[in-house]
Amino acid sequence: MLPDTKAAPRYPLVIVGAGALGLNFAARLAAVGPVALIARSEARAAELRAGVQVGDAIFRPQAFGPDSLPAADWVIVLVKTYDTAAAAHTALALRPRGVVSLQNGLVDDVLRGVCGSVPVGQGITTEGAFRDGAGVQPAGAGETLLPPGFEAVAARLQEAAIAARVEPQIAAARLAKLLMNVVINPLAAIFRVPNGAVLEPPQRPLFDALLAEAWPVLRAEGLALDEAAARERVIAVARATGANRASMLQDVLAGRRTEIDAITGSLLALAERQGTELPTHRAVFALVRVIEAAGRA
Ligand SMILES: NC(=O)c1ccc[n+]([C@@H]2O[C@H](COP(=O)([O-])OP(=O)(O)OC[C@H]3O[C@@H](n4cnc5c(N)ncnc54)[C@H](OP(=O)(O)O)[C@@H]3O)[C@@H](O)[C@H]2O)c1
Repeated sequence: MLPDTKAAPRYPLVIVGAGALGLNFAARLAAVGPVALIARSEARAAELRAGVQVGDAIFRPQAFGPDSLPAADWVIVLVKTYDTAAAAHTALALRPRGVVSLQNGLVDDVLRGVCGSVPVGQGITTEGAFRDGAGVQPAGAGETLLPPGFEAVAARLQEAAIAARVEPQIAAARLAKLLMNVVINPLAAIFRVPNGAVLEPPQRPLFDALLAEAWPVLRAEGLALDEAAARERVIAVARATGANRASMLQDVLAGRRTEIDAITGSLLALAERQGTELPTHRAVFALVRVIEAAGRA
């Protein structure tokens, strides 16, 4: 039998997850070089190739489904956190040099569990985008921080004018982002309020309690902010994004599953490992679960 000489195309960068942020990144990257997008199914990949609205323009990505995967040098994972394991299996099948997540919450253990000896890491991004019908809209530029080892990914993002850099203290940066997310996201989702309102009554006492419970746990894990600085940072983010709807609120309003497991769930897991109880976080975790179930019933 003749060997199969039809090798899969190889891309310097591949994004797994063609949602709000994945499409937003891919459209900007495609303007300066080759980038592939991996969708959940072949049908969705075909739809995307036909054209999808991203901002003001129609973007025709080089999109693939799970049965026709290309090869990749580097992979960025941008699925919702509950889809991380499936996306990691797809990422591994791309035979990459490394896999980096820019998801919220803490997911690097999941990636590591699937990817074995392939280097994995989790960065953070404050870029914003949201789904708008069948397309996506950018919601403001931000900054993307990558773990050491992912310099090549940072360089690609920079070429596309996406503010990105390798952050040596990425673990501390991730914990600071987790602190924002565990305090602001569940309150916004439970009370159905924009971010700024979590600082006001009647949400404010819960905001203070969530912050006071989370800080010592995250500090013990390597958060590089003292309590006053941490408080200032969370308040500043809530104010600066005051009119925005947190992603967890958007999920609740759309009847979608939230990322509460990877956000508050990750904090509760860290606390349990430290032998600490976080009653307010446990309560908001349970409430978001109930709201999710009611919205999806
Ligand atoms: N959007 C933002 O502004 C923002 C900012 C910072 C961080 N983040 C984080 O980035 C991550 C992605 O957020 P997002 O807003 O872009 O979510 P999203 O719009 O829901 O996009 C996720 C995409 O991943 C696809 N997907 C799911 N499983 C897959 C798989 N196994 N293989 C390939 N594709 C798969 C989904 O397909 P289906 O549509 O078929 O489910 C969906 O299109 C989240 O962790 C979020 O917290 C988002």
